[in-house]
Amino acid sequence: MPQKRLIVRSQKALRTRRKDWFCAGITTAFVPTMGALHEGHLTLVRLAKKKADRVIVSIFVNPTQFAPGEDLDAYPRTEKEDVAMLKAEGVDIVYIPSPDAMYNAHHATSVNVGGVADGLETDHRPTFFDGVALVVTKLFHHVQPDIAIFGEKDYQQLATIRRLVKDLDMPIKIIGAPIARDDFGLALSSRNKYFDESGLTLARQLNRIMRDCAKTITHGSEIDIATKACVKALIEAGFDSVDYVSVADSKTLEILTENTANKAMRLLIAAHCKGVRLIDNCAIVAPKIQAV
Ligand code: PAJ
Repeated sequence: MPQKRLIVRSQKALRTRRKDWFCAGITTAFVPTMGALHEGHLTLVRLAKKKADRVIVSIFVNPTQFAPGEDLDAYPRTEKEDVAMLKAEGVDIVYIPSPDAMYNAHHATSVNVGGVADGLETDHRPTFFDGVALVVTKLFHHVQPDIAIFGEKDYQQLATIRRLVKDLDMPIKIIGAPIARDDFGLALSSRNKYFDESGLTLARQLNRIMRDCAKTITHGSEIDIATKACVKALIEAGFDSVDYVSVADSKTLEILTENTANKAMRLLIAAHCKGVRLIDNCAIVAPKIQAV
């Protein structure tokens, strides 16, 4: 039997391959990415392999999720290395559509998710989730997966995709994968490639300061006091600025101001470190608040 191609660039070729799998009752897990792959992406791929018979990974640096002035042009593009890594992981198809094929010249449709997509990131990148929801909707139509895997690293993005799939009746199971970190606790990210040695050392402080804040809340501190102290600690450590340090309900992402044992809470942070915007998040262990 001839070897099937690993790289697929057109929707048509992808559909043909998928049709064979549908007919044979083969299940597919999908991992959308923007490339510049690292171990964090690979943990998603490994999870995908466990969850379905076949795995498709897409690489597409999506222009609609970058605002003017953001790093669309500078975003690292390492297709050759990415494909080699995915081949070594035993991925079945790497889908690499071109920007022109993805967005025709007259494209005029948007996908706007409310609720969980409002606030936090949207306060600072107002059109970001519109771009993500649009491209993920399109990729889901192209790939038609049974399962799709997203990282908790982008916690609000994961919640947004869950909402999107539910609201638009897409028959796709969304699975969240834990955050992969380096040995110093820094969440792996394609944008870490922008750091020099001193930037990396500073970036690694984020995780420590975030965990200190989460612990203080677990020990009963008021959220407002703990998050303000966290912002102060980040600035004192050398971060350029802080977009937000917020505590939200883990499911609804409603911002919480009261420290409560009744809700699963998530601490979410976005901060600028030597010109690079970092996001991170962690669960807050429920505080042991005595009933009175
Ligand atoms: P990208 O940043 O390439 O990330 C692709 C997927 O990998 C996302 O689901 C992201 O949450 C996950 N990921 C990245 N770093 C991770 C880490 N350290 N641990 C666990 N998962 C990690 O997110 C995007 O691309 C885009 O917005 C996309 C969904 C592809 C739409 O364009």
